[in-house]
Amino acid sequence: MEIIQTISWMKEIVRKAREENHVTGFVPTMGALHEGHLSLIRRARMDGSRVYASIFVNPTQFGPNEDLSKYPRTFEADVEQLRAAGVDVLFAPDAKEIYPAGFRTFVNVEGISERLEGRSRPGHFRGVATVVLKLFEIVQPHYAYFGRKDAQQVRILQQMALDLNMNSEIVVQPIVRESDGLALSSRNAYLNPEERQSATALYRALVAAKLAADTGTLDAAQLRSSAVTILSQERSVRLDYAEVVDAETFEPLVRIGARTAYLLLAAFVGKTRLIDNLLIEPAANSGAVHSSL
Ligand code: PAJ
Repeated sequence: MEIIQTISWMKEIVRKAREENHVTGFVPTMGALHEGHLSLIRRARMDGSRVYASIFVNPTQFGPNEDLSKYPRTFEADVEQLRAAGVDVLFAPDAKEIYPAGFRTFVNVEGISERLEGRSRPGHFRGVATVVLKLFEIVQPHYAYFGRKDAQQVRILQQMALDLNMNSEIVVQPIVRESDGLALSSRNAYLNPEERQSATALYRALVAAKLAADTGTLDAAQLRSSAVTILSQERSVRLDYAEVVDAETFEPLVRIGARTAYLLLAAFVGKTRLIDNLLIEPAANSGAVHSSL
């Protein structure tokens, strides 16, 4: 596996791979890699003949009071995992390479970016969309892989790809979880053993909502409250938001069943902010739904 730090060198590698007619897949990450990231790499490995990954802790997607300086950095271990997973090229630029002095262009996907995660983390999606556009310009992948764990992020990036006529196709992969249901996240490293226990409340809340949805509860407020009830029983968990939204517009829904929806959760466990979601899809011609964790 080659490790590349400059944009010019990366572009040269990409140009050669294109000349050789490789089908290229790209997995952008912020490092501190876990099975969630590796599941994206494996899928890319299956789909194409060249796999690129990036590790870049993107400063523009962190708010002034967020965890940029404390964000877990485990570069050596990440490199080993990527090598073992069969990545061909790792792009790992530093912040000056991506945002040189004088940088002043940002991408804003209006509307969806201001809701939910965007409301709790102003400017977050502007930073995500900007860096992903830049990475796509550099790497020019046929396919780019993202996790449904960050459902709103994926939806925003799909909209950006559509609006800006981008050539890369976005592929979405399911959420990878620990055996007790906790969604894998680099931020789980912040949890102490007690908080790690409490953190399963997000999963348990979604399981309760899934049960309700799959057995015929179509009222969004009722689904939401089946989840919120579980979260409120856990002392160290503080709810940020729980919302049932349309999976395309991310606007709140009153009733599920007609269109694909998400129940989206964000909660603080101690000082650590975690997100998770339940995907709710209409079952064929029955008015019932099928939901997935
Ligand atoms: P990061 O949080 O490192 O996540 C990289 C990719 O891994 C994202 O597509 C994310 O959705 C996916 N992922 C994380 N946890 C997952 C899980 N448990 N199951 C499945 N996929 C999971 O998301 C980012 O980085 C950044 O915003 C980025 C897109 C790289 C732009 O900076």
